[in-house]
Amino acid sequence: MINFVLYLFLNAMASNDLFYLAPLQGFTDYVYRKCYHQLFGDIDTYYIPYISFASGHKIRNSQMRDLLPENNSGVPVIPQILCSDEVEMKQLASLVKDHGYQKLNLNLGCPYPMATNRGRGAALLEKPDELKRILDALFSDFEFEVSLKFRAGMTDEQSIFQLIEILKVYPFTQLIFHPRTADQLYKAEANRSLFAPFVQVMNRPIIYNGDINSIDDLDEIRKMVPDQNQWMIGRGVLSNPFLIGELNGKEISPEEKKRLRLEFHELIFETYQQHFSDKGQLLMKMKGFWSYFANSFTNPHKAFKSVKKSSSLDKFKQNYPAIFQNYEF
Ligand SMILES: Cc1cc2nc3c(=O)[nH]c(=O)nc-3n(C[C@H](O)[C@H](O)[C@H](O)COP(=O)(O)O)c2cc1C
Repeated sequence: MINFVLYLFLNAMASNDLFYLAPLQGFTDYVYRKCYHQLFGDIDTYYIPYISFASGHKIRNSQMRDLLPENNSGVPVIPQILCSDEVEMKQLASLVKDHGYQKLNLNLGCPYPMATNRGRGAALLEKPDELKRILDALFSDFEFEVSLKFRAGMTDEQSIFQLIEILKVYPFTQLIFHPRTADQLYKAEANRSLFAPFVQVMNRPIIYNGDINSIDDLDEIRKMVPDQNQWMIGRGVLSNPFLIGELNGKEISPEEKKRLRLEFHELIFETYQQHFSDKGQLLMKMKGFWSYFANSFTNPHKAFKSVKKSSSLDKFKQNYPAIFQNYEF
C-alpha cells in the first residue's frame, strides 16, 4: 500500500513537467502525431507545422491535410501560421478559424531564406511595426488563444530583448523561445544561456525549445531557471520515441523498448499506407521517418543507410526487418 502511495506521489511529481511536440514540416505530420499519441500519449500538445502561401497564393496539399480536423481527431493540436503581414495573417487565421480551431500559433522562427526573404518567420523579429500591426489585428479581429514561437533574432541573438515591450503588451497564452539566430538555422548549438535572462525580464512562464535529448539537458536549464517545467521538443522525440517517458522518470525495460519500437514502426507504416496510395510518396514518407528514427538503433548510420538505399517500396519492405534484428539495443 505504501509503495502504491509512493508510486502515485512520484507520478504526480513527474507530471509537473509539460511536454509539447515541436512542429517539423514534413516530419511531425498528422500520421506521425496520431500514431505517437495512440502509442505513447505523453505529449500535452502537438504543434502542427505551419501553413503558409506558396506560389500562386496556394497552400500546399500536404499543409492542408495536416490542418484538417478529421485528420487530427482525438489529438490535442495547435495550428501554426507563417505570414509576412497583416493581410496574409488574416487570410491564414480565417482559414484556421473556418476549420474550427480556437488556438493559433504564430511563427516568428522560420530561418530559411525562402521565408525570411519574403518577410516571414524570423524576419518579423526585425520589423517591429509590421509585427505590431499583425498582432493588433490578430487580437482584435479574432478570438483565438494566441501563442508565439520565436528565435533570438535574425543574426543578433540580443534582438529578442528589444521586442520585450511588444511581447509584454499582448495576452499570449504561451511564448516559446528557441535560442538560436536565423543564420544558425538548426545547426550550431542553441544558446541556452539566453533563456534565463529572457524569462527574468518577461517575468512569466516561457516554454523552452532546442536540443533537448536527455534528462541532463533539462537539468542544465533548470540550474538556470529552477521553476522551468514547460518544454517543446522536436528532433529528440523523432530520434528517440521513449524520450518523454525517460524525462518523466519512467522506467522502460529493453524488452519493452524493443517491442514498442517495432510496434510504433508498424503503426506508422500501416497508417501511412492508409493515407498515401502512391508508392513513391509512401516510400519518401518512410525514409523521412527513418532519417530520425534510425538514431534509436545501435548504429544509426548503418540503420538509415539500409533504408535510404531502398529504391522501391518492395525493397524497403525487404530491408527494414533486418534493422530491427541487427541494430537493436
Ligand atoms: C526539418 C525541420 C522543419 C521544421 N518545421 C518547423 C515549422 O513548421 N514550424 C516551426 O515553428 N518550427 C519548425 N522547425 C523548428 C522546430 O520546431 C524546432 O524549433 C527546432 O527543431 C528545435 O527544436 P529541437 O532541437 O527540439 O528539434 C523545423 C525544424 C526542422 C529541422
